[in-house]
Amino acid sequence: MRVLVVGSGGREHALCWAIRRSPLCEALLCAPGNAGIAETADCRPVAAEDIDGILRLAKAESIDFVVVGPEVPLVGGLVDRLEEAGIAAFGPSAEAARLEGSKGFMKDMCARHGIPTAAYGRFREPEAAKEFVRRHGAPIVVKADGLAAGKGVVVAQSVDEALAAIDQMMAGRAFGAAGDEIVVEEFLAGEEASFFALVDGETALPLIAAQDHKAAFDGDRGPNTGGMGAYSPAPVVTPAIERQIMDDIVLPTVRGMKAEGRPFKGVLFAGVMIENGRARLLEFNTRFGDPECQVLMARLKSDLLPALKASRDGTLSRLALEWSDDAALLVVMAANGYPGPYAKNTLIENVETAAAQQGAMVFHAGTARDAQGRLIATGGRVLGVTATGTDVAQAQARAYAAVDSLHWPDGFCRRDIGWRAVGRG
Ligand code: AMP
Ligand code: GLY
Repeated sequence: MRVLVVGSGGREHALCWAIRRSPLCEALLCAPGNAGIAETADCRPVAAEDIDGILRLAKAESIDFVVVGPEVPLVGGLVDRLEEAGIAAFGPSAEAARLEGSKGFMKDMCARHGIPTAAYGRFREPEAAKEFVRRHGAPIVVKADGLAAGKGVVVAQSVDEALAAIDQMMAGRAFGAAGDEIVVEEFLAGEEASFFALVDGETALPLIAAQDHKAAFDGDRGPNTGGMGAYSPAPVVTPAIERQIMDDIVLPTVRGMKAEGRPFKGVLFAGVMIENGRARLLEFNTRFGDPECQVLMARLKSDLLPALKASRDGTLSRLALEWSDDAALLVVMAANGYPGPYAKNTLIENVETAAAQQGAMVFHAGTARDAQGRLIATGGRVLGVTATGTDVAQAQARAYAAVDSLHWPDGFCRRDIGWRAVGRG
């Protein structure tokens, strides 16, 4: 197969790394990729959001199978366009990607199919949303309906904070058109986890669970980010809870989406809140998580490519995947200042030394080569320093040993990734 991976983050580096190992992969391209991906795939300068450009590239390169990493092209209909052109693609149609692209759509779908999630209201008028907030009190959660790069959620500790968030999203248009409609919902307490299943329209194959750390600083303090680290397994997701997530959340969604004439294919990522031994759905994403994908790929023993193809072909029921018993843990190295403003094009050294540490590998997110071929940082989240080990504690020790052998004075990381899992022993 000639395979094209779409995207440029750590998630896409991990997908390329896994697909490259497949005996079925004859050629591997990535658009646009990054400096790390360029070591395993042939990178082409076409943006992931450029649907016409990706279509042209796939045709020109006689691509057999396209794997779409990020949500924006999925919601924009890239998979529909590729399939119409006769090119097989992994990921949901635009209609099915609304599970991520519209929080209001997702909440209504849960309500129609009895899926456990926070009580909510959908609003197009700020006054009605504020009325709802005053009636319910704090804590309460305000969400922009559309895609906002993971930043469109405010967990408000007071009524005033929630009212201000409504104004910022609706009148202030902090997220543009994504905030023209908002969802206000009940605050759920508990411990969060990320659960993944491959879906082929009819069947769902559970993958494994992971946990990430969304806050920028140690102790889960500071502003929310796209994720500062991740690990798997997630001890909070016991076998009983995994079964409950499949039975109460994933399978009713797969059946419901099919019954409504928008069958879901691709990877369904359920962000769940677990309390008193029961998971409730916080949100759906219709793609692999970043950085969760990297720890999943580090633990996957089977060939990824046939699994992605089976999701597209509707043949998942015949597939089983094997996972390593080892744990994997990833520490994000981010540019100083992230998630606020940060410097670009700073020099990163000793990545090879870091990757050579026991059990370690380094996934690139925001990197490029300068004119002299040196590695430079070009984004907020820059590297995902990953390690495997017999348990989360060993993976954590190895990942930080790798971090400490890097030389990048303009970057920082959290020093406590995995603390919940390590603390459980
Ligand atoms: P989302 O983008 O929907 O995943 O929201 C971002 C983060 O906000 C989640 O990972 C949770 O930590 C938090 N969050 C979202 N919805 C709720 C909720 N109803 N109750 C508590 N926390 C939430
Ligand atoms: N790490 C969370 C996400 O990918 O949305």
